[in-house]
Amino acid sequence: MSEAPELLDRVRAGGEVPRHVAVIMDGNGRWARDRHLPRSLGHREGMKAVREAVEGCIAAGVEILTLFAFSEENWQRPPREIGALMALLEEYIARETDELRTNGVEVHVIGDLARLSPPAREAVDRLIAQTRGGTKLLLNLAISYSSRAEIAAAARRLAEDVRAGRLALEDVDEDAVSLRLYTAGLADPDLLVRTSGERRLSNFLLWQLAYTELYITPVLWPDFTRRDLFEAILDFQGRERRFGRVTA
Ligand code: IPE
Ligand code: IPE
Ligand code: MG
Repeated sequence: MSEAPELLDRVRAGGEVPRHVAVIMDGNGRWARDRHLPRSLGHREGMKAVREAVEGCIAAGVEILTLFAFSEENWQRPPREIGALMALLEEYIARETDELRTNGVEVHVIGDLARLSPPAREAVDRLIAQTRGGTKLLLNLAISYSSRAEIAAAARRLAEDVRAGRLALEDVDEDAVSLRLYTAGLADPDLLVRTSGERRLSNFLLWQLAYTELYITPVLWPDFTRRDLFEAILDFQGRERRFGRVTA
């Protein structure tokens, strides 16, 4: 584990830290393949990187960390791999809940949890209940998550609200949509990190990433440390966010 104190000092001196960091944790399979190991061992190694990301965010003063752990599309992977991922999710929760609570992390989960197995679902509910009230970091885990499904569900809810007379048609605006997403009430991500060099969003937070700064690193997720997070934040701090305006 790399503490990287000099890098952290540079982050602290470097200006504004992103309030909300989102991460597409990618490359576990390639990490395993490079070592002639089964893919499941890549996923297992990826758990260490989750710890690095969480601790790095706390150290840097990031308020919200959203991690893409499992997509709706990932349900199309071989049953064996899905089984291994769900078992790891339960293991992660069993091993990390106390530490997360002690560190002041409040966990939220976004995604279609109805598709999880009952024990995985119970573990997730326990994690949420046992970390409630943490004030250091909000950790948002995207599990069985699809951004298009999230937006479609929001549209359906808007239509229901209009039909039932709870919402006027004129009030269907951006805020009305945002309020019906899983991320209702949360600031949009300032920085998106994708590991393993892939340059796509893979159906992650399509609405919320409208003006997010993108950072793609070739590092495979199991190799990701807080040092890599700090590098991403330093890169972010060197950017000019214009939001469509011109600078003075
Ligand atoms: C990311 O690693 C973890 C999940 C998508 C669950 P991958 O399993 O996608 O790893 P690669 O992309 O095959 O290397
Ligand atoms: C995106 O990674 C999903 C997660 C990281 C959980 P994938 O590996 O599933 O994405 P694609 O298939 O390369 O786009
Ligand atoms: Mg992948």
